[in-house]
Order: sequence, then C-alpha cells, then structure tokens
Amino acid sequence: MKRIVNIGVLVSGSGSNLQSIIDSIHNGKLDARIRIVISNNAEAYALKRAEANNIPTAVIDHRQFNDRDDFEMNLIEILNSHQVELVVLAGFMRILSSLFLDAFPMRVMNIHPALLPSFQGIHGQTQAYDYGVKFSGCTVHFADAGIDTGPIIIQAVVPVFDNDTADSLQQRILKEEHRIYPQAIQFFAEGRVVIEGRKVRVINSRSMEESSLHNPLLEDF
Ligand code: GRF
Repeated sequence: MKRIVNIGVLVSGSGSNLQSIIDSIHNGKLDARIRIVISNNAEAYALKRAEANNIPTAVIDHRQFNDRDDFEMNLIEILNSHQVELVVLAGFMRILSSLFLDAFPMRVMNIHPALLPSFQGIHGQTQAYDYGVKFSGCTVHFADAGIDTGPIIIQAVVPVFDNDTADSLQQRILKEEHRIYPQAIQFFAEGRVVIEGRKVRVINSRSMEESSLHNPLLEDF
C-alpha cells in the first residue's frame, strides 16, 4: 500500500510552488496530503490557493510575538497538532532557527531559485543574472541553521540567454521549481532519501548520463 506523507506548507507570497504541489497531488503523482498551509502574511495569495482547494490554513503573523522563539513555538505546535511529518518551505520569508529545525530534524525542505551554494539569500535569480552566469537554476535542499546551506536533494539547471532580463530568467527558473519540488517530496514520501553528512542520495534514482552542457554551444572543440 502507498504511504501518504503528511506535509505542512509554509508560505509568505504568491504560492505558485504550493500550487504545483497541490496539482501534483491531484494528478496522482505525489503521495502527500497537505494538512495545513501556514502564512506569516495574511495577504499572501497562497492562502487563497489553499482555500480554493479546501486545505486548512492558518495565519501566524511573526509581528504578533514577543520574539522569534515564541513565533517558532507557535509554528511547531500547530504543525504537530496536524501530524505534519514533513515541513515544506515554499517562499516562506522568515528565517527559522535551530529551535524550529530541531523539532523536525531533517524534515524541513526548502526551495531556492539558484544553483546553491551560489547566490544564497534573497533574489537568487537577480543575483545570478547580474553576475552574468551562463547557467542558473534552482535547488531543493533540507534546511539547516544556515541560510540556504543545507544538504542538496535535487537541482535543475537552466541556461541564461543574451536577451534575457532578470524577469525572463526568473520565469524560466520558476517553471523548473514547479517540477523539482513535487519530485523531491515524492522521493521523501517513498522513503528513498538517504542523508549522509552533507550528501543526499536518492535510492534507485536515475542519474543523468555523463555529459556536459555548454552555453554558448561549442563550435568544433
Ligand atoms: C520562489 O522563487 C522560491 O524559490 C523562493 O520564493 C519564491 C516563492 O514563489 N524561495 P511562490 O510563492 O511559490 O510563487
């Protein structure tokens, strides 16, 4: 019998990654149940997406707490009360400390819109664009106490074209985010994710054939 993993999704904004997770559950590719969507921002469009799909929501506004510990204890409590096994950060704009992370050891995933460890922090897409890289992409990783530093589960690479803008690059990256996040959660749901120090192995995953990518393309070299 298939195991369904209970997830809690933490959001702050538009929630397009949340939508990709909802869609993957609906089309039968992702064996997960979203028990709760929590936003620290009452205006987040992500909340509307959850409501439209009859998913319970909660707003936990960090500004209403005395300190970070109080805020995080509240998050832990509500996630536990919904039997959440995996916490999925999907555009959640608060840093979580080890108080929170210790409550869900190696069970907090995050998505970052760059090829980590490059371009950590906010606006990873714009940082990459401004730097002039020829490839960028996105990364799903386990959260640790650093900012975008935890063990990497899966990455997608996209090219940067001469006529790109920061916005067109962001859109190209976002499309891939919507593919790799549900996939990473499904690997977890299937119990195939093994963490060995900094390295994450996905049992029986297909690996890329040995090859390289060039941008611009090589001409006879
Ligand atoms: C995404 O670019 C994600 O990589 C970053 O925040 C953004 C969230 O977008 N962590 P959305 O709210 O899922 O549309």
